[in-house]
Amino acid sequence: MTGTDLAQGTAAPKAKRGLAAKLGPWGVFFRGFVEHPVMVGSIIPSSRFTIEKMLGPVDWDRCRLFVEYGPGVGTFCQPVLDRLRPDGALIVIDTNPLYIDYLKRTIADPRFTAVLGSAADVEKIVHENGHDGADYVLSGLPFSTLPDGVGPAIVDGTYDILREGGAFLVYQFSAKARDFMARRFKRISSGFEALNVLPCRLFWGWKDAEPVSAAQAEEAPAKVAAVG
Ligand SMILES: C[S@@+](CC[C@H](N)C(=O)[O-])C[C@H]1O[C@@H](n2cnc3c(N)ncnc32)[C@H](O)[C@@H]1O
Repeated sequence: MTGTDLAQGTAAPKAKRGLAAKLGPWGVFFRGFVEHPVMVGSIIPSSRFTIEKMLGPVDWDRCRLFVEYGPGVGTFCQPVLDRLRPDGALIVIDTNPLYIDYLKRTIADPRFTAVLGSAADVEKIVHENGHDGADYVLSGLPFSTLPDGVGPAIVDGTYDILREGGAFLVYQFSAKARDFMARRFKRISSGFEALNVLPCRLFWGWKDAEPVSAAQAEEAPAKVAAVG
């Protein structure tokens, strides 16, 4: 099971959505967990300590597009928007209509777009929203419990949509996410945040410029000469 198959059905019935709006973010998050425990993977949102540490290495001046997978009730969204440049954009992708509906109702920022869909479709979603690449992608996905094939598809799509110099920021309770990241990311730095329920592992997978081969290096001056 991949892609939009994962977006969990149609929008929540009206009465339920009204109730969710009244519950506040923690209530909405908890309800999402009760309805889809495996997909959500956590009982309460990330702590402010996790947010600070995870976003610490981001170079906000160069960030034109920031993408987030699994925003839940938007724990990271406002901190990202607070740091994002005025002409930047934040696209968040979640399979749970309860969360996407809540985010659309509560975040009114022209730089913000909430998409109901799967992170496995990140390339399509980014292009459909008028961007040719992303500078940073943040993930709070429960990699260990994703259906077969979805984790690798997400890592591949993420690597391909990232611009050189960008990074894939991942937090998870286990180090399993690192194994998935390593299939494409050659350089991964790691950290740990104890002040989170549960304490969590943090990873930053960097998309470095591809090394130029000897053959390419020889070709380059020839091309310049031909233009002149
Ligand atoms: C642990 S919660 C993260 C919550 C939030 N980011 C936080 O820090 O508090 C995981 C989220 O991933 C979403 N999710 C699970 N599989 C997904 C997928 N394939 N694509 C996008 N979102 C997904 C769930 O609906 C849930 O909102």
